[in-house]
Amino acid sequence: MSNKKIKIAVFVSGGGTNLQALIDKQKSGVINSGEISLVISNNPGAYALERARNADIKTAVVSRKESASQAEFEGRLVDLLNENGIELIVLAGFMCILSENFTVKYPKRIINVHPSLIPSFCGKGFYGLHVHEAALEYGVKVTGATVHFVNEIPDGGEIIMQKAVEVEDGDTPEVLQKRVMVNAEWIILPQAVEKVSKNLLESK
Ligand code: GAR
Repeated sequence: MSNKKIKIAVFVSGGGTNLQALIDKQKSGVINSGEISLVISNNPGAYALERARNADIKTAVVSRKESASQAEFEGRLVDLLNENGIELIVLAGFMCILSENFTVKYPKRIINVHPSLIPSFCGKGFYGLHVHEAALEYGVKVTGATVHFVNEIPDGGEIIMQKAVEVEDGDTPEVLQKRVMVNAEWIILPQAVEKVSKNLLESK
């Protein structure tokens, strides 16, 4: 077993509050087996990039729109991951679908946080605020967050951790989203990252 930490890349698209939780939990020692070495955004305007820069983490932008094809987009991602020796990929509010060509290259080395209790409100079209809109429309009384491995099925990989959050009377999608983030996502994502990093480190 080596003492070196697992090199982590975090993929982001927007505000990056989950990235912030990872940065904070790395500082406080909850994440100790891995280290965030690179933050990649598909969106050059993502505030998440600012959060990474503030924490002195290397950043890169790979735009899907400016790539000629999904294959070119994913090829650029793979090049960056190789150049930086990345061993674990964390999707933290990354709003691009990754094809099977990409996911097969990293078995049990890509994890994602999803803002519902999978298998509810997940899969194609369920992302960001839409997930909470759907949960409120259905009328569930409990929702939550899931951290799972990523495979070729959107939101279909093995579950690593889940945490339930109660829906309250009068919730709006925004209010519910915030409660799920604070009480579930920002807690279980760093815990799951540490768990997976530790296992990878021990199997080296
Ligand atoms: C989070 O709620 C995350 O779970 C969700 O987008 C938000 C990103 O917020 N991800 C998905 O819906 C993926 N299917 P953030 O940029 O502040 O972390």
